[in-house]
Amino acid sequence: MLPGPTNVPNRVMNAMLAPIINHRSEDFRILYKRIIEKTQKVFETNGDIILLTTSGTGAVEASVVNLIKKGDKAIIPVNGEFSTRLADLIDSWGGTAIRITAPFGENPPIEKIEEAFEANKDVKALYAVYNETSTGTTIRYMDKLGNLCGKYGSFYIADAVSILGGDELPVDKWNIDICITASQKALAAPPGVSPISINERTKKYMKSNVSPILYLNLNRYFKYYLEHTETPFTPALPLYYAFDEALNLVLEEGMSKRIERHRICADAFYSSLSTLGLTPFAKEDARSNVIIAFNYLDGMDDKKFRTLLSEEFKVLIAGGFGNLKGKVFRIGSMGEVTRYHVMRTISSIYSAMKMLGIDANEKALSIAEEKLQNL
Ligand SMILES: Cc1ncc(COP(=O)(O)O)c(C=O)c1O
Repeated sequence: MLPGPTNVPNRVMNAMLAPIINHRSEDFRILYKRIIEKTQKVFETNGDIILLTTSGTGAVEASVVNLIKKGDKAIIPVNGEFSTRLADLIDSWGGTAIRITAPFGENPPIEKIEEAFEANKDVKALYAVYNETSTGTTIRYMDKLGNLCGKYGSFYIADAVSILGGDELPVDKWNIDICITASQKALAAPPGVSPISINERTKKYMKSNVSPILYLNLNRYFKYYLEHTETPFTPALPLYYAFDEALNLVLEEGMSKRIERHRICADAFYSSLSTLGLTPFAKEDARSNVIIAFNYLDGMDDKKFRTLLSEEFKVLIAGGFGNLKGKVFRIGSMGEVTRYHVMRTISSIYSAMKMLGIDANEKALSIAEEKLQNL
């Protein structure tokens, strides 16, 4: 129950046992094309897909180093570790990040973003971390940011590393120019594949503004795909095999059913853990359906609590990041999450609280059962 990597189904793990093939062969081209077409369906885009075999940070970095040039301005809502890192990366690459900050657990009002566009008419890009994994906070106005970017002539880049596959993200409909995700979260594949979608106008821009880099140079990926249906560099083949099978599972279930399953599991977690006597970290209108963050009560020691959960109940959850260390715990409710995972996690938390001498309301379990009935 970590916020990534998440549980990987056996079907996906077993796919990695297939033989290593020549990545300059017809076998590879068939595989690569197939994965790209399935990824387009999951992203709901007709745009280009690039499948980096890096972790999510590689794809995030690619979205900056291929677009931002010295002196370019980029607006970015900042409300946690991953949005902070992205803003710092923009600055260190020579751009100027215009940070629209909000307290952790909240999103800045969209009006503040529009004000920043008004005050900076030459803004080149808006970067938004859709799901801030460090705090369990989701931006619920991602659909509106595309129009805002259209109005001010800016590119729109979404870091959807920890959410794609677990919540709505119709990339073309929301007018997202670059969308980034990673395999090890809501798509339930092993870590190491990070897909990026790029639409036509952004590709055109990149083609006439070539970045002085090698490995993450997206122009090389466009060229190799167009000319050979291959990657420019040797891909981590077993990870492609696994990702291919993980996408089969996603598409067999169907995106809308998958998103609904995540919503129901999240609802069960929020209602039930609140009944136990805990309070969610994120504000109600910003709560994530994939990362469930709750505040610790007095007397709930992070280390003792999570050690009990892992050693006595074999349930792994995460603690807080940076300033939130020791103050919150985070549950990854994504990927393959089912009734079994939710009930087992909640009952283990209930028992661990009791073992720590903390009063916990046992009604929490029946509330979770009730919420999960529609699964
Ligand atoms: C929102 C977000 N962006 C970027 C990253 C970085 O991904 P990775 O750890 O795969 O490099 C993460 C990782 O958790 C994330 O949650």
